[in-house]
Amino acid sequence: MTQPKKLFIKTYGCQMNVYDSERMAEAMGGQGYVQTDSPDDADMILLNTCHIREKAAEKVYSELGRYKGLKSERPDLKIGVAGCVAQAEGEEIMRRQPMVDLVVGPQSYHRLPELEAKARGGEKALDTDFPEEDKFERLKSRPKAKRGPTAFLTVQEGCDKFCAFCVVPYTRGAEVSRPADRVLTEARDLVERGVRELTLLGQNVNAYHGHDRGLAGLIRELAKIDGLERIRFTTSHPNDMDDDLIAAHGDCDKLMPYLHLPVQAGSDRILKRMNRQHTAEQYLRLIERLRAARPDLHLSGDFIVGFPEETEEDFRDTMALIEAVQYGSAFSFKYSERPGTPAAERPQVSEAEKDDRLQRLQALLTRQQRALQDAMVGRDVGVLFEKAGRLPGQMVGKSDYLHAVHVAAEGLQPGDLRPVRIVESGPNSLKGVLV
Ligand code: 5AD
Ligand code: SF4
Repeated sequence: MTQPKKLFIKTYGCQMNVYDSERMAEAMGGQGYVQTDSPDDADMILLNTCHIREKAAEKVYSELGRYKGLKSERPDLKIGVAGCVAQAEGEEIMRRQPMVDLVVGPQSYHRLPELEAKARGGEKALDTDFPEEDKFERLKSRPKAKRGPTAFLTVQEGCDKFCAFCVVPYTRGAEVSRPADRVLTEARDLVERGVRELTLLGQNVNAYHGHDRGLAGLIRELAKIDGLERIRFTTSHPNDMDDDLIAAHGDCDKLMPYLHLPVQAGSDRILKRMNRQHTAEQYLRLIERLRAARPDLHLSGDFIVGFPEETEEDFRDTMALIEAVQYGSAFSFKYSERPGTPAAERPQVSEAEKDDRLQRLQALLTRQQRALQDAMVGRDVGVLFEKAGRLPGQMVGKSDYLHAVHVAAEGLQPGDLRPVRIVESGPNSLKGVLV
């Protein structure tokens, strides 16, 4: 029997990349590859990259630099770059780093086996097309391996919104939804393999139209699958929250009370310049409707500080919006110029100003996050256990609201979903006891 070849994948960026990396590993399994945790003994290194902010691309180049030694010791080692940097800068990567053998954009992963064969044959392989076919349908050669209790499932890709700061419409292309029957088949398969919680992924997931009733229609179908206990979805645009999706937060038990709904900024002037197509007030009204459907909903968001032309007053509007919403969690970023996007051409805010605003914004968000987490103490909440904790006898899982919860109890297994009384709130997690 021939020795299996070893594949090392390093994943950057969003959850969709995590999902894509799993699919690529499975496809390469069909080519005789097994995954390894270290680049040192790999026959192929694949970087699954992110292009959303500047630093992300720079990290890729410095990571590639680190493999120079390995490549000169073992010329047979193949190095590939996948993901959004590959899509945006494919040829540039090949020029800047001649040791790269293979470049593959996110819409061409089903062609990876052919590209690998080409690279093995000593040629350079590059594919950054936007083909018509559903790559996931062709990436299906999966062993029926057992899975952990939680999984991502990509249902939608790309985006037609063209926010003025964002590269996604260029790197991931136009909005495409996978047909509901394919998603349902994949979901049933995952549940058979041990998955209890699914997070539906898409760059603009609530624009999903692979079901005639949109994302809510898909969620209601998924909720009928026995053994699937929890459904989440990320990431959404406020303008695509339709009535049925809002209602589903109230009437679909399996849909968890946690919603990531980025607003980016709280100033109408900046929202307009960002091409977000809604005002701060419209966002706040939407939150009200969601909370009317599900009063205990935890909200999460993304924020950008230092967007071109953002003044101190604009920034204060963002702080005021955050005060009004009370977020359970949030992600915040300094604006980063992305070549080819409209905002990159505009007058920029100074780095010092961006640093100062980010610090103030994060201090406020951390306070809110901590307050909501502390308010969990004394409450009972569902926890889906995922793995052993650091202390003996301890298991860690996620609450319905996505808090990490530690529980010490005999006999708990990954995949158990149990009611837990929260007894303590620490810096990043909760402690609880079984009820
Ligand atoms: N600069 C800073 N943050 C950005 N994001 C997207 N593009 C940029 C950029 N150019 C953030 C947005 C988005 C999240 C995924 O990344 O907040 O919601
Ligand atoms: Fe980017 Fe999201 Fe805006 Fe689409 S909706 S352009 S993915 S920030």
